Amino acid sequence: MTLPFETPAKRREIGPEAFGRIAASLRREAGIALAPEKAALVHGRLARRVRALGLDGFDAYCDLIESREGAAELRAMVNALTTNVTRFFREPHHFDELRRETLPRLVAAARAGAPATIWSAGCSTGEEPYSIALCLLDLAPDAAALGIRILATDLNPEVVETGRKGVYLAEALEPAPGALVRGRFETAPPGPDGAPRLRAGEAVRALVAFKRLNLVGPWPFTRAFDAIFCRNVLIYFDSPTQDDVLRRFAGATTEGARLFLGNSERLGPASAPLFDRGGVTSYIRNAKPAPAA
Ligand SMILES: C[S@@+](CC[C@H](N)C(=O)[O-])C[C@H]1O[C@@H](n2cnc3c(N)ncnc32)[C@H](O)[C@@H]1O
Repeated sequence: MTLPFETPAKRREIGPEAFGRIAASLRREAGIALAPEKAALVHGRLARRVRALGLDGFDAYCDLIESREGAAELRAMVNALTTNVTRFFREPHHFDELRRETLPRLVAAARAGAPATIWSAGCSTGEEPYSIALCLLDLAPDAAALGIRILATDLNPEVVETGRKGVYLAEALEPAPGALVRGRFETAPPGPDGAPRLRAGEAVRALVAFKRLNLVGPWPFTRAFDAIFCRNVLIYFDSPTQDDVLRRFAGATTEGARLFLGNSERLGPASAPLFDRGGVTSYIRNAKPAPAA
């Protein structure tokens, strides 16, 4: 068997030079670092596109994505190479902490006239922001009237659109506490596979605004966040990019705001002084001067 990264015997295989050009484009567009061991994955995800476009091989594909005419294909390539795996109530200790530590404070502040915003950065298909919304509604069924909102953003417009629709396989809701889901999701028409589906109800969807946003581009925010979930996203970036985004999170949050990272993600040298330890991979924005986001 010929591995995709070996000297290309066939034109459709990916050589080290084409891999390097694809990796450079992905890093420039999305901040994502691709290790050489990922050559087989890149081949697996892009070979179909090379064929569908009628191109001669990966060198021609690189010429296309680096050209002005290839802007749409470059975006499609980034979408194809990102990992969108997510689940309702993934890493459940964060939702326990959210319900115990963060939301009571935010709801009390909102009742006193200071509404809060929570950011789910790298939200994929919406399971994470809707999990936050279910926790919030459990504590404050009037959260929307109080002005509390969840901003859900992702680089990939397709996953953002899926989140906006809010339709999921019924079995995807199984990890969610039953008491929180009851009455909050409604039956949706089954998909082509006939499997039962549920749609986030009006009260849940009203709390979450979905937008496309690239974390390594500009952030057009006018107000600071009171909590940020950015879990299992930074792991795809190299260390300096991770630390830069984390430093910008500090500049985009209020003092005392909680930052939730994925289980295998940590603060870096520029961001660590700006946060105190919260819980397991959660951090609290401290009073040190905030850098510009
Ligand atoms: C593995 S999912 C994590 C989803 C969710 N946060 C969770 O933990 O379940 C990673 C998401 O990060 C998004 N992503 C990758 N690079 C990004 C970037 N530069 N800006 C914004 N989102 C990005 C991907 O599109 C993908 O949906």
